[in-house]
Amino acid sequence: MKKIISTLIIAATFYSGLNAQSVSKTTEEQLYRPNYHFTPQKGWMNDPNGLYYLDGLYHLFFQYYPGGNKWGPMHWGHATSKDLVKWEEQEVALFPDQLGYIFSGSAVVDKNNTSGFGDGKNIPVVAFYTYHDPLKEKENKLDVESQALAYSLDNGKTWTKYKNNPIIQNPGVRDFRDPKVIRDEIHQQWIMSIAVQDKTQFYASKNLKDWQLLSDFGKDLGAHGGVWECPDFFPIKIEGTQETKWVLIQNLNPGGPNGGSGAQFFVGDFDGKTFKIDALFAKQLAKEKAVWLDWGMDNYASVSFDNVPENKRVIIGWMSNWLYAQEVPTEKWRSSNTIAREVNLVKTKEGYILKNVPVSQLEKYHSKKISKNINLKSSQSILKNNEIDLTKAVIDFDFKKMTSGVYTISLSNSLGEKLTFGIDNKEKSLFIDRRKSGKTNFSDKFAKKVTKTPLSKTLTQGKFKILLDKTSIEIFFNNGEKVMTEIFFPNESFSELSLYTDTKGSVLNITAHELTINK
Ligand code: FRU
Repeated sequence: MKKIISTLIIAATFYSGLNAQSVSKTTEEQLYRPNYHFTPQKGWMNDPNGLYYLDGLYHLFFQYYPGGNKWGPMHWGHATSKDLVKWEEQEVALFPDQLGYIFSGSAVVDKNNTSGFGDGKNIPVVAFYTYHDPLKEKENKLDVESQALAYSLDNGKTWTKYKNNPIIQNPGVRDFRDPKVIRDEIHQQWIMSIAVQDKTQFYASKNLKDWQLLSDFGKDLGAHGGVWECPDFFPIKIEGTQETKWVLIQNLNPGGPNGGSGAQFFVGDFDGKTFKIDALFAKQLAKEKAVWLDWGMDNYASVSFDNVPENKRVIIGWMSNWLYAQEVPTEKWRSSNTIAREVNLVKTKEGYILKNVPVSQLEKYHSKKISKNINLKSSQSILKNNEIDLTKAVIDFDFKKMTSGVYTISLSNSLGEKLTFGIDNKEKSLFIDRRKSGKTNFSDKFAKKVTKTPLSKTLTQGKFKILLDKTSIEIFFNNGEKVMTEIFFPNESFSELSLYTDTKGSVLNITAHELTINK
């Protein structure tokens, strides 16, 4: 009898264990798998890699470890999209080999077959990545990282690693990685930027295989709170003019504007060899110390796509931060990406702005629409889930007659958890506060303080667009002049949007759209 009872107890425990597991699995998918931001089905993801467009398809490769939910031996995962919004995961593209892990990098569409990899029928796509040798790393050697290439003749489905890899040997620097290649039509060459510890190095090539070092940039410029990683260097016209400037996006970790990983940028001129910041940008840099692409804590390794139609510059970032990325409360997969964003360069008297806004293709997915005109009181409910599903929404806020007070918008659930964000017109800042947003204690670095973006003046009016998903908010202030991206993990989805203010007489127009993106 005793035996039977204990067998029953064991069976019951086993069964309820299984049950608890399957319940928590569904809960995790339901609660945290984003509605429209890309996540791999399973495993670990970090930086976007090898971004390009060809023949109607956008390609997103990414740092990927399929064998676990933390960083591990790096592969390149792969996803494709017809419109930069709805992504379909594909087979793993690149696997680690005897030369090492496959670290971050880029891809270009070699239309004129300058590489000679073409077969006369198909356009070669050439991908560049860093080999990271874990054995040399263990031995504390310096030459751990080198640059390599692989090419595809079937629009990214299959890849051949080049037989003469690595194409650039390590020059004796421990951090030497993340090659970003672009076509420099102005000087009829290919340019590769590489992050080299505390600077960017530029290399040039005519055939994508043989590379010469051109110059170094940035050792004494901008933010240096951590190692420089994942550069992106491209020419871009100043909006509304025919004048071309060169922009270098230079990610770094740590040392971001609100802690941990972040992306700064530089604006200047490139003569085919050397990149120099221009006088206006130098003035701006002297004042601001570093100029940031995104002020939130969760937009890292942002880089751009090659060959986007109409010459648009589109970037996408990893929506996390190395401070806590490996601890966030998802088990089956870890990390998602930001929405793809179109970037434009604007020149003002004070300096340059790299505006970024969600790609216009997102509007195709706007479904239900609600507009409201609200005379602001000290506290009011603005939107509820039965009006718009706040886990897949785009909302435009347009504040008028603002005074020097605080405008706090709160996204909350029935458990009393909330994410607040808004405009502090007293302190002159935008802010996001996720301290009470649900699960936060998986890392003491996740919700330590309110994240802030300084504003140059008190606002009398203020416009911004927010993108909401189950675990993320992306705020595009004033047409993308200032951007804040952050993630959160409530124990129940947020279902209400309210507004609190200590000011009087302000008016708010909102237009909210639900997004319908069937997977
Ligand atoms: C940035 C980074 C890159 C590197 C990759 C490794 O997040 O550290 O510099 O190539 O991740 O996964």
